[in-house]
Amino acid sequence: MKISDILIDWYNANKRDLPWRRTSDPYLIWLSEIMLQQTRVDQMMPYYERFVSRFPSVFSLAEADLDEVFKYWEGLGYYRRAEHLHRTARIIAGERQGRFPSTAKDLIKLPGIGPYTAAAVASFAFGEAIPVLDGNVMRVLARLYGEETPVNTEAGKKILTEAAEKLLDRSQPGLFNQAVMEFGALQCTPHHPSCNSCPLAGRCVAYATGKTAMLPVKLKKKPLRTRYLHYVIHIRNGGIAVRRRSGKDIWNGLYEFPLMELPGEEAVTKVRQILSKRFDNPAEAFVLIGRRVHLLTHQRLKLYFWRGKVSSKEAEIIDLQKVSTLAFPVPLKRFLDNYLNIPNFDNER
Ligand code: ADE
Repeated sequence: MKISDILIDWYNANKRDLPWRRTSDPYLIWLSEIMLQQTRVDQMMPYYERFVSRFPSVFSLAEADLDEVFKYWEGLGYYRRAEHLHRTARIIAGERQGRFPSTAKDLIKLPGIGPYTAAAVASFAFGEAIPVLDGNVMRVLARLYGEETPVNTEAGKKILTEAAEKLLDRSQPGLFNQAVMEFGALQCTPHHPSCNSCPLAGRCVAYATGKTAMLPVKLKKKPLRTRYLHYVIHIRNGGIAVRRRSGKDIWNGLYEFPLMELPGEEAVTKVRQILSKRFDNPAEAFVLIGRRVHLLTHQRLKLYFWRGKVSSKEAEIIDLQKVSTLAFPVPLKRFLDNYLNIPNFDNER
């Protein structure tokens, strides 16, 4: 039996029933793939449902304000995805009468669509015979063929892409691609894969050579950069000082509290003096009221929250009632929700 048939049979018997698998609408498939980048299915699902009921078509998304899109994205992280999503929706609705390109080669020209997403949308929605290569697929292939070239190198990707091209079932590429991805997600898992019940165990080089646990090989990532972010919580007359973050750094476009970033860890008394100078208020006006650590892919953020005062040119004062309608980075929103007991996004609807 062909390996692709084994995978497809396995898929038909074991697949999860996911909403974007019940449609061939490229809008829904594209949206699901963008949301699933760096995000697990169970975490993303409620966002997907809410998003689709508010923006059921590419036209409704294109007509919306970016701020509203951010609000629906709040909590998913990697906000650049939401910005690209919105830009792509405007291109599709405004320049292409709502029609998505049907090949990976053209899809990849759109904002936020890389090689993986282009291949996924082209094969799932349009049946293009092109393999997808995400983390799940790379793990399955590296193990199946005992491939020890690191998968996060160009050489490793090239070898696995060629293997995937050969394996691909060209008569049903979308089904095949979903099958390999699902097989990686449920059967050939990173830790403790279910080799005892695996229909490919008899063909798997890693299984035969006892190398399952060491494959795929990955080159070590760069160490995390630590950043020290001091936020000032300034509440006055039922309003709070906030400003919109801009630039090319993290969280571009989201709201935040007046911020002072320091290059390193400093003693509390020292930070109060620096805050006092920076925001032109007496050091006594600043009291440390909370801290937390937040991890991003390449950064460890140490967040410090100070109760204090800032001048009106630093920020705008937003009604506390209105704050929950603005999109904030998750750790800031969590802090604020705890601090003020503002009902969160989930409770609102
Ligand atoms: N992760 C990325 N894309 C996926 C999909 N289409 N189904 C399940 N998990 C996924």
